[in-house]
Amino acid sequence: MRIALPLSATFLAITACTTLPAKPVVELTEQEARGYDFAKAHCAACHAIMANGSSPNPEAPPFEAVVNTRGLTARTLETFLRDSHNFPGQMAFEIDPAKVDDVTAYMVTLKRADYRPAP
Ligand code: HEC
Repeated sequence: MRIALPLSATFLAITACTTLPAKPVVELTEQEARGYDFAKAHCAACHAIMANGSSPNPEAPPFEAVVNTRGLTARTLETFLRDSHNFPGQMAFEIDPAKVDDVTAYMVTLKRADYRPAP
């Protein structure tokens, strides 16, 4: 019993460290974190969803490029995401309206005053 406890504590600590999923470096609010999880599940097959990423689908712009488009605001992005009629052909789906706020909140965390598109 006296050695079992420290051993299992160590085991748990190691397991916790090695199974942590890659997360954005910035601190996210709960809503932004929900949006990140949603994007990871539903958008990441095509789009780079984190800063400095390249999209698995080369035709899908990285989210960082999308949100740093001049004139884009959380409001315009949200309006776009709520209306699947505007979606490009490859996005033949709708986004659960209840998730649009979350994913928008996450995406706009990628806005950077000094953003430059990759050459
Ligand atoms: C099957 C691949 C695929 C998936 C999954 C996907 N997208 Fe896209 N998305 C694309 C492509 C391809 C484009 C670019 C189309 C173009 O420029 O004609 C795009 C463009 C966009 C744009 C920019 C539209 C514009 O007019 O500039 C936004 C915003 C976007 N996607 C959001 C999302 C979100 C949010 C998700 C997840 C809920 C998602 N996408 C999932 C393929 C995908």
